[in-house]
Amino acid sequence: MAIAFSVNGKPVEVEAEADTPLLWVLRDDLGMTGTKFGCGIAACGACSVHVDGAITRSCSVPVGELAGKSVTTIEGLKGADGVLHKVQQAWIEAQVPQCGYCQSGQIMAAVALIEAVGTPTDAQIDEAMSNICRCGTYPRIRKAILAVAGIAAADQGAA
Ligand code: FES
Ligand code: FES
Repeated sequence: MAIAFSVNGKPVEVEAEADTPLLWVLRDDLGMTGTKFGCGIAACGACSVHVDGAITRSCSVPVGELAGKSVTTIEGLKGADGVLHKVQQAWIEAQVPQCGYCQSGQIMAAVALIEAVGTPTDAQIDEAMSNICRCGTYPRIRKAILAVAGIAAADQGAA
């Protein structure tokens, strides 16, 4: 079936079975490989994107549910002028990534959190940032989120 929605502000129409996971459509049909496959069961967060502004694990969303909706991926975070999103800039400044595999999902989760609450508390960060990082970059992720919010992180060995 043909399904029309938008990705990063541009209209797309894909021909796919309705139960095809959005992640496969993004990567295989639309060639947007910044969104990663980790577990495939909505457990790790590597595949996180925004759907109508809400953080969403794209491995577990059938594309048939997306008609008319708006998807944002890591490729769509930077501005039209090419300037990186403030969360991406904070990630670079805090040197968050290690292997990098989980990081597009981490950034999408952080952007959704900051857009929702502005200045997150530690508890809100704990609740929102449930993505798994096998490299253990959690202290630097927290540091970058707090930096975006204008808060210096407590020393947790995150330097
Ligand atoms: S690949 Fe989607 S949550 Fe792990
Ligand atoms: S940076 Fe390697 S899994 Fe997160």
